[in-house]
Amino acid sequence: MLKLHKISARIAGITVLREIELVLPPGQLIAVVGRNGAGKTTLLRAIMGLLPISAGRITLDGIDLGGAPGHRRPSLGLGYAPEDRVIYPTFSVEENLRLPCEVLGLPQREIAQRLERVIDVVPQLAPMLSRSGAALSGGQGKMAALGRALMVGTRYVLLDEPFQGLAPVLANQYAESLQRLHLSDKSLCIIVTESNRSLLRDLPDDTLTLERGELQSSPVETS
Ligand SMILES: Nc1ncnc2c1ncn2[C@@H]1O[C@H](COP(=O)(O)OP(=O)(O)OP(=O)(O)O)[C@@H](O)[C@H]1O
Ligand SMILES: [Mg+2]
Repeated sequence: MLKLHKISARIAGITVLREIELVLPPGQLIAVVGRNGAGKTTLLRAIMGLLPISAGRITLDGIDLGGAPGHRRPSLGLGYAPEDRVIYPTFSVEENLRLPCEVLGLPQREIAQRLERVIDVVPQLAPMLSRSGAALSGGQGKMAALGRALMVGTRYVLLDEPFQGLAPVLANQYAESLQRLHLSDKSLCIIVTESNRSLLRDLPDDTLTLERGELQSSPVETS
């Protein structure tokens, strides 16, 4: 289980996460809601080891992740779809999906099985596989980024504001994919951030509110 023990983080000398205490159990879909600048992206980046924490500890199954730099965290089963999706335009969608598994050196058979499972969860990706990453719309890129996060995120999937900017049809498909994933894999923990909680519908099992880098114990309305 992933646990955040009073973690703080600073960017450019300013504290942007303050003593975040959080337990992320398997099988849960957890939303982190907060206004722009609240620290949502910073929180996910800290969990992924892409930003140093200035205080506290992050542990996975009791082991301190301090010794696991960002490039090693995917090998622990942590997948991340950043806000700005980062789909490589010179690669096909399938190559984009396979890439993190190739980097981990997984056997081809395992990669093929994972790809098959991802297509089951996000069927809209099937007809896109051979297309160039450059040929995707913004919304399609978000679906591809979800698929890529799922390829390595066998234990934890962190999705940064996935619903932002999605047209209603794609938002519905994205929500259905998350629901399918949540129902089909009871060992997976899905963490989704949003600034607008209504976009999350009734997907989350639990909704946490982040305000100015602090987790609030009681929900705060964020429109
Ligand atoms: N590269 C940076 N340089 C300086 N300050 C930064 C940088 N990145 C983030 N910050 C600051 O850290 C705080 C948290 O930013 P963060 O991006 O985590 O917020 P967020 O909740 O993801 O916001 P949004 O909803 O706009 O994505 C903000 O006050 C922001 O101004
Ligand atoms: Mg953000």
